[in-house]
Amino acid sequence: MWRAVLALLAVLCAHAIVPADAFLVKTALLRDLGRRARPARSSAGGCPFSGNALPRDKLVPESLRDIVQGVAFPGDSGVAPDVPPAWLDRQKFERGQAFSRKNFFSLAYAESLSLLINFLFPGELQPLIFTRRSSTVYDSYKRYFDTVARVKSWYESDPWTPNTTAYNNIATVRGYHLDASRRMRQASPDALRLNTTFGPHSDPPHIWSGATVERMCEDAREGACPSDAVDAVLKDRDVTKRVHLNQFDMSLTQFAFSGLIATFPERFGLHGNLERELDAFCHVWAALGYALGIQDKYNFNLGGLALTRRRTRDVLEHFAKPRLRTVNRDWEHMTRVLFEGLSLYNPGVSYEASVLYMMDLLGVAAPRLTASLTPTQRLVHSSIGVFMEGAMRVPSIRTWANQEVANNLRKAGRNADSQRYKESIEKRSYRYQFLPTPSRYQCA
Ligand code: HEM
Ligand SMILES: *[C@@H]1O[C@H](CO)[C@@H](O)[C@H](O)[C@H]1NC(C)=O
Ligand SMILES: *[C@@H]1O[C@H](CO)[C@@H](O)[C@H](O)[C@H]1NC(C)=O
Repeated sequence: MWRAVLALLAVLCAHAIVPADAFLVKTALLRDLGRRARPARSSAGGCPFSGNALPRDKLVPESLRDIVQGVAFPGDSGVAPDVPPAWLDRQKFERGQAFSRKNFFSLAYAESLSLLINFLFPGELQPLIFTRRSSTVYDSYKRYFDTVARVKSWYESDPWTPNTTAYNNIATVRGYHLDASRRMRQASPDALRLNTTFGPHSDPPHIWSGATVERMCEDAREGACPSDAVDAVLKDRDVTKRVHLNQFDMSLTQFAFSGLIATFPERFGLHGNLERELDAFCHVWAALGYALGIQDKYNFNLGGLALTRRRTRDVLEHFAKPRLRTVNRDWEHMTRVLFEGLSLYNPGVSYEASVLYMMDLLGVAAPRLTASLTPTQRLVHSSIGVFMEGAMRVPSIRTWANQEVANNLRKAGRNADSQRYKESIEKRSYRYQFLPTPSRYQCA
């Protein structure tokens, strides 16, 4: 059904790239590439640490200056679980919860897409590799299904009233976070290095292809600054010299849950004047962040919609774009299993199309990545835009999309405990699994 609707929409769209055009498009792109053999951004103006480098204190945009200090502090403040923040506005919180329940489809897609961005940061990616709870398609399907269910509960009951589902889930998740950071802290430097990356002979077996990441990185080298300045600020490249799951990491995860929706609502199918609802939604995430242990000065959403948007744009421009140049096989593996896992119960979710959608959002031209996609993947990519920015304006389509997500979640829940289902997923193989391991491990 979903697939059929996507295909129909794409065909209706005058700009859709149908298979017949693919060859022409590819040729045009290649011609275009040849013409634009301009120097890489690294030597162009405007990049920190390049020709006309910015002074060190200007490396971090104003809106994020406090938040980046969070890299030095553990992510859980130890706040009492039944005490809401002094600044909580209950009415606003409940309005934000109602908005989230009503628009779950948009929120869910924005969150998945945000993970492509968050996994560019080793402080977000490596703990997940370390715990091995989401390193295969099946594990990832289970892990993110649980995540979605818990986050959903935070939109449905009160997180500070003992024994509500929301309250219990806050406690569980804080427990997971404390446990993961403790285990990482206690691991020897060698074990830590070894267990936070997939080596060439990894367990699980490789399922990355290499090509997507390499094309994406080539595009990023042209369209984004190098990541040296980000490295200098976040000091997160060495796993043995990091505070695991720190306040900055937590804040960046708030960005993942709220930033893209607040800043680019139309790109995720939210239309009309929603400023009041989006502001309430930011309040929900400010309060959930507090409940999970984020201190106010690192809280991404405290300060309302306007500040959340400012911070989102700054994270994307100053932190995420340069980090596109650091993608490697670990990133591809973890993002691929994430999207393959989600597509088990959300037909139509496509990895390549979503990576390209992320590049659109970041404003990085992606001619090589685009050319490396199959015609079907390109079709799905253009359909996402048409669906979100066009079709989702129609109330009945919006309702249908939100119901589909709810149905899919119920279906996934029924499968989740079935051993037969588990085996059937684990038996599956993927096209890119059999490609030779790319020789180049890291692109930047
Ligand atoms: C606002 C911040 C955050 C929220 C709302 C959040 C949400 C969640 C949720 C809902 C779960 C439960 C998943 C399940 O039941 O399997 C979870 C588990 C977990 N989270 Fe977070 N998280 C946040 C920050 C972080 C950060 C910064 C990290 C660092 C990478 C992290 C790492 C983990 C880990 C390791 C687990 C245990 C499951 C696993 O090993 O994959 N979380 N989180
Ligand atoms: C929570 O629920 C359990 C069982 O469902 C009950 O035994 C306990 O008293 C409840 N606690 C509170 C604080 O209501
Ligand atoms: C690292 O991974 C190995 C398995 O490859 C495991 O035996 C070991 O316990 C892990 N180390 C830590 C500190 O988790």
